[in-house]
Amino acid sequence: MSGIESILKETRSFPPSDDFRQKAVIPGMEAYNALCDQANGQYLSFWGDMARELLSWKKPFSRVLDESAAPFFKWFDDGQLNVSYNCIDRHLAQNANKIALIFEADDGAVTRVTYAELHRRVCQFANGLKSLGIKKGDRVVIYMPMVIEAIVAMQACARIGAIHSVVFGGFSAGALRDRVQDAGARLLITANEGLRGGKGVPLKATTDEAIALGGCDTVEHVVVYRRTDSEPAWDANRDVWWHQLVEKQPEQCEPEWMNAEDPLFILYTSGSTGKPKGIQHSTAGYLLGAINSFRWVFDYRPNDVFWCTADVGWITGHTYVCYGPLGNGATQVIFEGVPTYPDATRFWRMIERHKVSLFYTAPTAIRSLIKLGADAPKQFDLSSLRVLGTVGEPINPEAWMWYYEVVGGGRCPIVDTWWQTETGSAMIAPLPGAVPTKPGSCTLPLPGVMADIVDESGAPVEAGKGGFLVIKKPFPSLVRTIWGDPERFKKTYFPEEFDGKFYLAGDSAHRDENGYFWIMGRIDDVLNVSGHRLGTMEIESALVANPLVAEAAVVGKPHEIKGEAVVAFVVLKGPRPQGDEARKVADNLKQWVAHEIGKIAQPDEIRFGENLPKTRSGKIMRRLLRSLARGEEIVQDVSTLENPQILQQLQESA
Ligand code: WTA
Repeated sequence: MSGIESILKETRSFPPSDDFRQKAVIPGMEAYNALCDQANGQYLSFWGDMARELLSWKKPFSRVLDESAAPFFKWFDDGQLNVSYNCIDRHLAQNANKIALIFEADDGAVTRVTYAELHRRVCQFANGLKSLGIKKGDRVVIYMPMVIEAIVAMQACARIGAIHSVVFGGFSAGALRDRVQDAGARLLITANEGLRGGKGVPLKATTDEAIALGGCDTVEHVVVYRRTDSEPAWDANRDVWWHQLVEKQPEQCEPEWMNAEDPLFILYTSGSTGKPKGIQHSTAGYLLGAINSFRWVFDYRPNDVFWCTADVGWITGHTYVCYGPLGNGATQVIFEGVPTYPDATRFWRMIERHKVSLFYTAPTAIRSLIKLGADAPKQFDLSSLRVLGTVGEPINPEAWMWYYEVVGGGRCPIVDTWWQTETGSAMIAPLPGAVPTKPGSCTLPLPGVMADIVDESGAPVEAGKGGFLVIKKPFPSLVRTIWGDPERFKKTYFPEEFDGKFYLAGDSAHRDENGYFWIMGRIDDVLNVSGHRLGTMEIESALVANPLVAEAAVVGKPHEIKGEAVVAFVVLKGPRPQGDEARKVADNLKQWVAHEIGKIAQPDEIRFGENLPKTRSGKIMRRLLRSLARGEEIVQDVSTLENPQILQQLQESA
């Protein structure tokens, strides 16, 4: 851990205003501490009471936690419930006509959907799925744009007990194929096209390409939502139009009553090998995490208008678009487009237009919008805002202060939420009516989350010292397993080094003298580019799949807007290219990666060498490559290097 050192020192602190605190869901530090004490003292009844209070059960559970097969924990496992019932049906008695979704399309057109209407649409689509033979336990891959139907599709799967796996619409055919294959999906749901920034995204064509790559034999049908007028290629035996599928379906669909531990969904995420991991979440525990954290972290009240800008292809879009807000019966904005179209005021315009009170976005979006117009928010009436949130990567204090002052008018607490695909819901974040915030810190764990920072031996580190971020007790919304690979689950998340007792998050962090958590970055070979997790191995495998490439190593370097940028060191099979030739090959390889994985994984920079710096045992010295990528002087010991002359070559090729 000697390499993990904290250099950030931030002393500003912002407590909530008295007015905010008094009206808050968790009003003040005493209330927060009381909840923490309760959780510490009576861990099981703390979660058990919450599960009874916040979820509607068809059959109540009699046992809160079963640890007998640790780390394969089971929560509430003899209870039965349905997630879609909890997100929709149970609000109908009081709030049938409340707006659930305010959809703003790429071109600015707005569609409002009430809870009653959402219920009708979900039921009809669920019946449509059943008519295609989809049943409990089947996997359904959803490859959709950010439209109402994406949420309808997810909720419909939950309604009939099918396990959805949403694949982000920016992933390429290869990435889609891998996920479909790993999940063994029977059905794919897509759109003819998506619309982003005025341009069509050919989702159906990419789906066809993915299936043509082979290995998707489990797929029986492709359901296609018509978003634009374009006519996709059509396979009459396989493809089904969404509108035709739902046309004559009944408007009621009895929910499938699921066991608490039945899988709700799989979501693939990057790890430190080339193969993405299918993170498997449960029904009850996951939903409890989503519903409870939503009300705590955003201080949710029934007349709020919530807007999370994440795509449903990521965990944030699952928990804080599809499940958390709907589970609370909230009204939320969903947005099809991009923050810079038609211009970089889109977010501020939309907050004004829809009177958004709770706004949740990524630091990378904030940084790019500062650059495109630091004063732009001032042209709009943003007085509806109450709470601002960030997620996905550390936020630099400068961007935090701008968000706080210019967007929030110095009035809105900022909730910097630390969590992961694996944790299912926010773990470390300020409860805005209680915990004073500090720019750049995700502050304190939510009550019931036993987070700690430890050294290699598992002992807690002292304040100011970096260490491994761990969670010391199982909690309801934690990943249950890696789809099809329980061994990898155990090895990755409950490693032997800590006697299999702690959940290892894969981040390094330190705590300050007030016990506040500061996330420092990943400890594995995972990059965080614009808040997206990318495995360096995945990009390396894509590069070496190119016929020109012999070897590749990928590292990150700091980037002003994206947080991290991707730098690839490449050895070609032929001679090392130089000058124009090098630029041409580099451009081709960048496009190749975009095609193999998706644009988000495209390297920012490619450098060519005749070799890579390796130890005598043949191990690539990544630390050295990181220094090279950052243009730092090489201070590491290079005496173990097999081929020291290669360093100069890689330096010169910048
Ligand atoms: C990083 C996104 C600092 C972290 C919800 C984590 C953060 C990874 C924060 C998970 C934050 C997420 N501050 N870093 N507030 N939130 N991260 O699975 O490295 O896409 O391990 O989940 O993002 O990314 P994932």
